[in-house]
This record gives sequence, C-alpha cells and structure tokens, in this order.
Amino acid sequence: MRRALLPVFSAAVASAIAVQRDLVIEDSLLITSHPPAQLADCLRSSYFGTYGGSAATQDHIFLPPPACLLAEDTLSELTSGSLVPLPELEDGARLVWVGPAGVGAPHAQGVMDVDQSWDFISSRAEMLASASSPSEDPADRQGQLVLSAGQLAHPSTPMLQLVHQSPSSLLLHVPANLVPILDTLLPPHLVPVALPLQPLAAGWDPVPDHLVKHLADITANLSFSPALDKILSEGIVMDDIRRNVRWLTGEAPSGIVSRHSFTEGALKAAHWIKDKVEATGATCHLHPFLAGFAPDVICHYPSLLNSTEHIILSAHYDSRGSFGLVRAPGGDDDGSGSGHLLGVAEAVKSQGVQFEKAVTFAFFAGEEQGLYGSHYYAEHLHKQNTTILLQIQADMLAYHAPGEPLQLGLPESIHTPEATYLLSNLSQMYSPELVVGRTAACCSDHQSFVSYGFPATQVFERNGPIVDPMYHNSGDTSQRENYDFSQIVSIAKVTMAAVLTVAGYQVKA
Ligand SMILES: *[C@@H]1O[C@H](CO)[C@@H](O)[C@H](O)[C@H]1NC(C)=O
Ligand SMILES: *[C@@H]1O[C@H](CO)[C@@H](O)[C@H](O)[C@H]1NC(C)=O
Ligand SMILES: *[C@@H]1O[C@H](CO)[C@@H](O)[C@H](O)[C@H]1NC(C)=O
Ligand SMILES: *[C@@H]1O[C@H](CO)[C@@H](O)[C@H](O)[C@H]1NC(C)=O
Ligand SMILES: [Zn+2]
Repeated sequence: MRRALLPVFSAAVASAIAVQRDLVIEDSLLITSHPPAQLADCLRSSYFGTYGGSAATQDHIFLPPPACLLAEDTLSELTSGSLVPLPELEDGARLVWVGPAGVGAPHAQGVMDVDQSWDFISSRAEMLASASSPSEDPADRQGQLVLSAGQLAHPSTPMLQLVHQSPSSLLLHVPANLVPILDTLLPPHLVPVALPLQPLAAGWDPVPDHLVKHLADITANLSFSPALDKILSEGIVMDDIRRNVRWLTGEAPSGIVSRHSFTEGALKAAHWIKDKVEATGATCHLHPFLAGFAPDVICHYPSLLNSTEHIILSAHYDSRGSFGLVRAPGGDDDGSGSGHLLGVAEAVKSQGVQFEKAVTFAFFAGEEQGLYGSHYYAEHLHKQNTTILLQIQADMLAYHAPGEPLQLGLPESIHTPEATYLLSNLSQMYSPELVVGRTAACCSDHQSFVSYGFPATQVFERNGPIVDPMYHNSGDTSQRENYDFSQIVSIAKVTMAAVLTVAGYQVKA
C-alpha cells in the first residue's frame, strides 16, 4: 500500500503549504537535502539523522513541530524537500532508510534504479510471506533463520510499506516481523539504516571542539616510532587472521553456515569471539539489544590510568547472503573486519601491550538489518555521558580489483575529518604500501557514533566504490581471487597504531 505523498516542494510550494496548514503539518516527517547546520534552530530537537554516503545525495530527516516548520526563517531556508505523514508504528515496527551502498562498475550495470527497487522489494516480501515452512532437515537448519516462515506469514501482520521515495533512497515502514530479515528482501546494492525511535538526543551537535582539537593535536605531533612499528610488524600475524576469518566463514570446520543475526551461526560466532578476545586480556560481555538478534560482543581492556576516556575499535560480525540461500559466509563483509579485530587483539597479548586509557573492541550484530547493534551501543554510551576520544569501524578490508595496489579507503562523508586525517597520517608511517584515498561506500556502524556526536571514522578496502562481485552474496568466502589477506594486515597495522597512539600504552617487561 502506498501512502499519498506530498510532492517535493520548493520555497513557493512551502508557502502554499503554510496557507493550508491544517492539511499537512501535524506529525509530518521533513526529508530534505539541506544539512541541519543550514536550517533553522527550531529544528534542532526534531533531528532524526543524516543518511547516505555521498554528500550530494544525502537525506536529512526531521519531525518538525508545526510552529517551527511554518516559521518564516524555516521556510525561507528550505528550497527543497518532502513532507510525508509519519506512519503510526505498531509495536516493534521501525522506519528504515534504504539507499545505495556505493557499488561501482562493472557491477553497477546490473544495479537497478531506486524507483524500480520498491517493486522488487515488495514482491520479494510477498514471496516470503507465501513461502512454506522451513526445511526440517537438520543439515539445512544450521543456516536457516531462527524465525520461521510461518511467523512471517501471520495473516494479521501488516505489510511492508513505502513511506517515501526519492531518486536515491526509500523510506520504509517495516513491520516487526520483517525487521529481522529486511536485508534478505533488498537487492545487494541497497543497504538499510533504521531511524531512531526518538529524535537524536544530541540534536545535531557536532563533536565537541576540545575532542576535535585533541585528535588534530595528536596528528600534528605524530612522529615515527620504531618501538610502535615493531609492535605492529611482529604483532599482526597474517596466518592468525586467515585462520580466524575461515572459522567465521565456515571454510574451516566450525560448522557455521551463516552469521545472519537470526541464525545459530551468529550465536556460535558471538561466544567464540568472546572467548578469543578474553584470552588476550580483555573482559567481554554479550550485549543483547533487540529481541531475537544475536548480541553485540563488547570487550574492554583495563586502563592503567583508571581513565574514563575511551577508544573504540569495531567491526560487525553478522553477515548477509543471497536471496533464498541460507549460506552467508560474510568473508569480506565483514569477516575481514572481524578477523582484523581479532588479529589486533592477539597482537595486544603477544606484544604485552597495556593501555593507559580505556580501550574497547566491539563486534556488532544487526548491522545488515539497519545498524541496530551499534545504534543501541552508541545510544547507551551517550546516556552514560561517556567520553569517546575515537571510534573506528572496520568493514570490508580484503577485496580490491584485479591488478590494483593495496589500498585504504577512508570515508567521504559521515565521519569526523580529524579522525580520518589521523588514520591517513598513520598509514603513511606504518603501512606505506597502502594507497590511501576516499570512498562513498555507505552505511556502516561508525554512522551510529557520528549520530550521537562521537568522533568516528571508518576503514574500507578501496578508494572508490564497492567492486567486490560477492558483495552481499552467498559466495563471499575468503578463498577466491583478489581476496587479499595482506591488505587486511596492512590496514590492521593502521587501526592498531591509532588505538595505541590515542590510548597511550606501556609494554609489560
Ligand atoms: C602538539 O600537542 C600539543 C598539546 O599536547 C598542542 O598544544 C600543540 O599545538 C601540538 N603541536 C602542534 C605542532 O600542533
Ligand atoms: C587505579 O585503580 C586501582 C584500583 O582501584 C588502584 O590500585 C590504582 O592505584 C589506580 N591507578 C591509578 C594510576 O590511579
Ligand atoms: C549525563 O549528563 C546529564 C547532563 O549533564 C545529566 O543530567 C545526567 O544525569 C548524566 N547521566 C549520567 C548517567 O551520568
Ligand atoms: C595528515 O593530516 C593533515 C591534517 O592534520 C592533513 O592535512 C594531511 O593531508 C594528512 N597527511 C596524510 C599523508 O594523510
Ligand atoms: Zn558490512
């Protein structure tokens, strides 16, 4: 069912809306290309976030109080956007933005336009709802979603609805029963980001000035440290990373078929990661965040200085496969980021590193359905008034196109520029083999931290778009051409250098 949408409006149309104010204004979402900083202050407390990896096509979403929307200065600043009625969300339902992940040629040729995507997505949802119960064959069940097709088809459950469509994105009303499997309905090149349930408490407060300055000062004061170089070179071990990635993908005999957030495989991976990282001296907890999802695995290293300032290095351990197939090895997305994080943890132990400030390694779940795991964790940290000095997300580190050099892709948008500069400077010092550039590859867990005003950035495998032919595909294993473990090692040296530099460290004698 499509909702009647107000057309995209110009300033003139906005004035007309103002005249007919009774018609439209109450409980309407404003979706606009204007970033919050360009808009009236009265919108501040109604901000629901910024979506999309390319600044040119980003959506900024608000739920403006009518008086704010109709105020002279609001209208004069709004030259484009849409007002759409806020749907009533039943228990457990979510609004989810869906947009391009940033997939490039040659695969871009098969990429459909966003306006064709809705028909595709809704027909898949209908197919799933009419599917028979899952196989009872135990061999299949390993990878089968824990949720049964019966639950999906419950006759009283509402259908997926299109709330808004722009040339580059969709806004969906996702009923509770589809929240866990929205990823399986999307074409591979589209990714979901769930809107928060309330406006972001931080408004659009940027990162506090003193934290930005702190990172900029660290970068300006950097000098090559032979001691740090030795820790990185001796600590990050490619064979260990390879072994860990292959355990996660099921290429090694772990029995894991999928790490989709609703599979047994994800739970098995969570417990295994917890044990692995605890063996390196951290204390890990399984953090449940939404019913039925596999938990986040949050691992803390003790701070020598009892510091309340935190540095977070993260990846997502859940995975996404092809429509209709249970296998989801997630070797690159994001076995590579998870394997890199385990590799850094092992280096902490083997090199006797002790951190001066508080360091957290976070393995998120629910990323593929809309960044749920990281959102809940960032929200929790915000509520606790936690000081985060730096957060880095590692998502897809292994793949580069045939013949391309080793690369480090840093975000074009949705990041803290000073955090990104710190990484590019460290890369030049400790992994000079990496060609550093920018990417619009979109929507990983650092976005949740940016939303809450924490300094955050991302590391990615390429300068430019995603070209991994196995992206969001059941063929995403590590034993294939151009899956490059040496690139994971080089990037791990950069992220570990950043954590040690910002946290401060000592080496156990
Ligand atoms: C180095 O860091 C200090 C703060 O520790 C800062 O005052 C100084 O400006 C930085 N140096 C440079 C060259 O920016
Ligand atoms: C940190 O806390 C522990 C236990 O409370 C205490 O023994 C230690 O002296 C503290 N260290 C510093 C540097 O304050
Ligand atoms: C966080 O800070 C706010 C505002 O200063 C305060 O009201 C709140 O109690 C603090 N929360 C915690 C958990 O310390
Ligand atoms: C290092 O950081 C500065 C900003 O502090 C930036 O201008 C410069 O381009 C960075 N250098 C490299 C090699 O990334
Ligand atoms: Zn990913």
